[in-house]
Amino acid sequence: MQEFHFPTWVNKFTVMLIVGGLGVAGYLATCLFAAIHPEVVNVGYKPKQPVPFSHKLHAGQLKLDCRYCHNTVEKAGHAAIPPSATCGNCHGGERTTGKLVNGVIQPGRELGIVHPESTLLEPIRVSLEDPEKPMKWQRIHDVPDFVFFNHAAHITRGVSCVSCHGRIDQMEVVEQKEPLSMKWCLDCHRNPAPHIRDPALVTKLDLKIEDPQANGEEWMKKLDINPNVSCSTCHR
Ligand code: HEC
Ligand code: HEC
Ligand code: HEC
Ligand code: HEC
Ligand code: HEC
Repeated sequence: MQEFHFPTWVNKFTVMLIVGGLGVAGYLATCLFAAIHPEVVNVGYKPKQPVPFSHKLHAGQLKLDCRYCHNTVEKAGHAAIPPSATCGNCHGGERTTGKLVNGVIQPGRELGIVHPESTLLEPIRVSLEDPEKPMKWQRIHDVPDFVFFNHAAHITRGVSCVSCHGRIDQMEVVEQKEPLSMKWCLDCHRNPAPHIRDPALVTKLDLKIEDPQANGEEWMKKLDINPNVSCSTCHR
């Protein structure tokens, strides 16, 4: 009986398989690197902003609620960055007491006058005078476009800002605290209890875990919480 021989083209195929295998291994290594490397993951990213806005002062000391400025966070996917008019409620100054029409400031609603002459606040006053020039705040947290994220889905289910952004109320300059990686999302989706509280208290960043309102197990039951882990939840 004739011995079976692989045809010679199989040799080429074997080479291709090895080269391909190395390629895949390299690709996976690159992905792994991308997934754990801090520069990609961005933990600690704290860019310089055009105005040195301090959350420690405004949210911490003055106790302004997060939603005073990020007012869409409970209703929408994105948390709005406030327009200069929100700052103007307190920092308007005399030059900006009204709308600009044909280059002339019209008398308008009263704006607050905390530090009306502060040079730090000049960019805010400029953008208040000219609505065509909104402030250009540097974006800090950013998941890739192929990821679906939604603030309202978390805020209304009792997940606090602190779980994902850390103690913003103690930050002079906002800094990314969590990796926002897929593993990070999934770790919580698989075991959310430690992060669930009374949804009315999501912006109280200093809530103690002993507080009855922070009893995750209980709120999980009350709100019937069961986060999805299927791919289409976050990739749609
Ligand atoms: C007086 C208005 C104001 C209040 C109150 C406020 N913020 Fe902000 N927040 C801003 C502005 C302006 C920026 C953009 C500049 C910056 O990053 O500091 C910002 C940026 C942020 C960012 C980073 C956004 C990005 O680009 O990724 C987070 C997260 C954030 N705020 C969370 C909070 C939380 C949590 C609270 C409540 C504890 C809060 N903020 C209260 C005005 C406010
Ligand atoms: C509810 C009122 C209020 C709002 C709204 C507000 N601030 Fe302030 N801000 C204050 C007060 C009060 C101080 C001063 C505290 C002090 O000097 O002791 C201050 C101080 C500052 C300073 C320091 C100024 C200096 O020269 O020392 C900056 C910068 C600033 N705010 C930026 C902003 C920006 C940007 C916004 C809008 C995103 C904003 N603030 C919204 C009340 C407010
Ligand atoms: C479950 C995690 C999670 C919680 C809870 C959360 N955030 Fe975020 N936040 C994110 C992620 C992820 C991004 C980046 C979103 C993107 O790139 O589309 C983000 C972005 C932001 C931004 C930048 C604008 C935007 O929407 O992209 C602001 C401002 C912000 N968050 C404020 C808040 C505030 C205020 C709270 C609490 C009321 C809060 N976040 C609660 C995860 C969270
Ligand atoms: C700290 C905990 C926590 C983290 C971190 C977290 N989630 Fe969630 N997520 C939840 C909870 C709790 C719910 C609400 C589940 C429910 O309603 O039963 C939820 C719901 C969602 C929903 C809505 C699901 C639906 O069925 O409509 C999406 C989408 C989502 N998360 C995406 C993400 C993404 C993307 C990330 C990472 C960038 C993330 N989550 C990080 C806890 C978390
Ligand atoms: C709870 C939200 C969530 C779920 C569920 C989820 N992903 Fe992701 N996924 C993410 C986030 C966030 C990223 C972006 C990670 C980053 O930027 O580092 C990501 C990234 C990815 C990437 C790109 C990897 C890379 O290195 O850039 C792939 C591929 C992927 N996911 C596949 C899946 C598959 C397959 C499933 C189902 C088994 C799944 N994901 C379920 C949140 C999720």
